[in-house]
Amino acid sequence: SPAESTAGSSTEAITFPVGRPGPFDPPERLASLREERPVARLAYPDGRIGWLVTGHSAVRAILADPRFSSRRELLNVPVPFPLMQEMRGPAEPGMFIRMDPPGHTRYRKPLTAQFTVRRMKGLEPRIREITRERLDAMEKAGPPLDLVSEFALPIPSLVICELLGVPYADRDEFQHATSALLNLESSPEEIHAALAGIASFFARLIALKRADPTDDLLGGLIEDGELTDEELRNVGFLLLAAGHETTANMLGLGTFALLEHPDQLATLRADPSLIDNAVEELLRFLSVIHIGPTRAALEGVEVEGELIRAGEVVTLSVPGANRDPSRFPDPDRLDVTRSASGHLTFGHGLHQCLGQQLARVEMRIAFPMLFDRFPGLRLAVPADQVAVRDTMTIYGVRALPVAW
Ligand code: HEM
Repeated sequence: SPAESTAGSSTEAITFPVGRPGPFDPPERLASLREERPVARLAYPDGRIGWLVTGHSAVRAILADPRFSSRRELLNVPVPFPLMQEMRGPAEPGMFIRMDPPGHTRYRKPLTAQFTVRRMKGLEPRIREITRERLDAMEKAGPPLDLVSEFALPIPSLVICELLGVPYADRDEFQHATSALLNLESSPEEIHAALAGIASFFARLIALKRADPTDDLLGGLIEDGELTDEELRNVGFLLLAAGHETTANMLGLGTFALLEHPDQLATLRADPSLIDNAVEELLRFLSVIHIGPTRAALEGVEVEGELIRAGEVVTLSVPGANRDPSRFPDPDRLDVTRSASGHLTFGHGLHQCLGQQLARVEMRIAFPMLFDRFPGLRLAVPADQVAVRDTMTIYGVRALPVAW
């Protein structure tokens, strides 16, 4: 292949590796790249040339380095993905995931103040209730059913409703408006319509909360008085976009992984206190953020012997970093007893995931409740018939037919 024939050279570019050997393992090419060229030339779909970084130390260093920017107008996407190709230009006010300081700080600071330990603790009983309601609904419907649509997608969506303070009466509408964004078959028109629907939904929600203050995250931000309605709307949308699909795919793919590694599931069941550790290991092993994050160099920076020039875009491989044998021994083995801390699935540095504690709590509650309720949970189709999402920025399963 062209990539192999140029090993050792930094002048010729590869394309982003996508093909996977199995549902849980990243493209094999990532491992060989990490060995030969952990900082490699990468051709983006628009023809521009940047970099793909696969080693743990280099990925971590770049994420911590302020000479690498998150500004959306400087970034590029390593796979042809219509929605993201369209979202060019400077980030809208409030979309701080694609900003650098001081713009980023303006939002991150008041948001961090809202993600209090008290609020996260307060959500736990509600997360248990939400999970119990989904399990009841599954039991009532009976097997076989799709675990993604019945469990993995609704739980994080309802938890975000709780966090933001979406009134009960509006939750169906909220879930309906967001489902088109998550539907892989949605056309660009459907996506635009869904985005407009969500924007007007948040506009109404914010007006409601301004008139009648509430004790939730949006209510808190409004009381804070720092952000305009447009900013609040976009912050709400960012929390939804960043927090829903990620957690949903961890729940769906994580269940699949535990079912396909019965020894690990048995270990976890025998010692439920392993759950916190098991969740970290699933985050590491599954690396659902399989495309990106991306950054752009603001000046020339040398990384592990390669000179990244000002303006060049760098794609950081989370699966590459999380399966780096120099950081995690025997990295391709799922082992719920290992110490997986230091994985980069929540990123690192200034933009490190704001919702990571919430995501962890959701998984620590949802996985055990699922396997307690359905001890005989199993796939309802052969494992090789479970369709995966390998062309999306968040990896996972499209559907997971299960029975019990
Ligand atoms: C940022 C992963 C759940 C809100 C990030 C980043 C990653 C990530 C990798 C950094 C992106 C970058 O550096 O460019 C995940 C994963 C999740 C998850 C794997 C679930 C398993 C959540 C949840 C929320 C959330 C539940 C909120 C309810 C955010 C926000 C940012 C972010 C607001 C932007 C932070 C900033 O730019 O300062 N997430 N996330 N995430 N995440 Fe998460």
